[in-house]
Amino acid sequence: MEQNKIRPAEGKLGILCVGLGAVSSTFIAGTLMIRKGMGKPVGSITQMAKIRVGRGNDAQYKHVSEIVSMPSLDDLVFGAWDILPDNAFESAMHAEVLRDRDIYPVKGELEKIVPMKGVYDQDYVKAIDGTWTKDTSLSRWELMEQVREDIRRFKQEQGCSRVVVIWAASTEIYIPRDEEVHDSLDAFETAMKADDRKHIAPSMCYAYAAMSEGAPFIMGAPNTCIDIPAMWQYAEKTGTPIAGKDFKTGQTMMKTVLSAAFRTRMLGVNGWFSTNILGNRDGLVLDVPENFKTKEVSKLGVIDTILKKDEYPDLYGDIFHKVRINYYPPRNDDKEGWDNIDIFGWMGYPMQIKVDFLCKDSILAAPLLLDLALLGDLALRAGRSGMQTWLSFYLKSPMHDDGHEPVHDLFQQYTILKNAIREMGGYEADEEID
Ligand SMILES: NC(=O)c1ccc[n+]([C@@H]2O[C@H](COP(=O)([O-])OP(=O)(O)OC[C@H]3O[C@@H](n4cnc5c(N)ncnc54)[C@H](O)[C@@H]3O)[C@@H](O)[C@H]2O)c1
Repeated sequence: MEQNKIRPAEGKLGILCVGLGAVSSTFIAGTLMIRKGMGKPVGSITQMAKIRVGRGNDAQYKHVSEIVSMPSLDDLVFGAWDILPDNAFESAMHAEVLRDRDIYPVKGELEKIVPMKGVYDQDYVKAIDGTWTKDTSLSRWELMEQVREDIRRFKQEQGCSRVVVIWAASTEIYIPRDEEVHDSLDAFETAMKADDRKHIAPSMCYAYAAMSEGAPFIMGAPNTCIDIPAMWQYAEKTGTPIAGKDFKTGQTMMKTVLSAAFRTRMLGVNGWFSTNILGNRDGLVLDVPENFKTKEVSKLGVIDTILKKDEYPDLYGDIFHKVRINYYPPRNDDKEGWDNIDIFGWMGYPMQIKVDFLCKDSILAAPLLLDLALLGDLALRAGRSGMQTWLSFYLKSPMHDDGHEPVHDLFQQYTILKNAIREMGGYEADEEID
């Protein structure tokens, strides 16, 4: 089958992580271990899933790399920025997600991944004192230009043919979309040059720099960052793919499965209380109300569009939905997420469902970084610029055009993902049941 005008995945692919904390170090160390044959890429669609192509008697189940040209794990090179100086080995040890025996065999490779100095503004991450930062007196535009230079230098030093930039740094404080600054590219660029720190978050400097260098940019936190018209316009102008926001890993993944089940069965919901305990640095950052606000907006959005309360007011018109994250150091990265769901059935009789997900946050997130980086690169090679809604499968708060509703249902998202891959591979999109 002839692939649809996709540039082959030749040469090395650089994956530059913004933030070299628990998630990034677990992702990088895990990928290095897996390519040594010392672990399995569990949770990764690009490495493990088989997707059906063709129908009926022609149906075949193939790995993603058999449908479209994909880099092998051996072709990947890693780099990062952080506002703290720890290299990837020190960061993985500090995070205490992976056991020593899953880190030490790649210690040498990890030690060589020393972060480049990050773009820092303490107003955006109040809980971290950045000690490894670019000059904070520089304007947002000047900082963005330094990030561009970092990308170019990394690409050249590592001999990469392509680079993807993925944000796995702390969640910034909530900044609402400001129509005057965020809705046009001209106004946005003027604000960067005028060093408008209130409206231009550090994350925006990385995103703009990545696109300027033709690198896809993925936003893994709930930051506003690329979710504004100026960034959509810039992505189109530069021909770069962008996707975001907020990795859909634990509690929200379960939510987007369970709420779809309730709506399919026409069972009512009148309350959904979600709480978490989390003790890693992410939990510490999210303990600050302005940072939690960003996460809250992202976590609260998912069930409304799945339940379609306007179409079913008797079932979903009056839901009390609350989400909490509590910083609790003893659990470190082992997040425990509880959900109490008050549902009702025939004649309005009440019932309850309790979910207790004892997860490992970074273990769930790591394969998403791998897939999003590889699929972001695929989008670039396939000439798909701008917002990549087909990657919504991986995201809690998927970006969508103004006036359109995002798809949150995990299985609908998976169908969209598979169809995009099928089409890029030269196969027909379809919605047959597998
Ligand atoms: N693990 C999950 O399941 C999950 C799911 C969704 C989103 N996320 C998000 O992923 C991000 C990373 O999570 P984590 O557990 O690795 O957190 P972490 O605190 O361990 O790592 C974040 C790193 O980002 C660095 N950082 C902060 N601001 C920066 C900046 N401006 N530039 C460069 N580096 C910066 C910090 O110094 C830190 O090392 C968080 O925003 C989190 O909310 C995680």
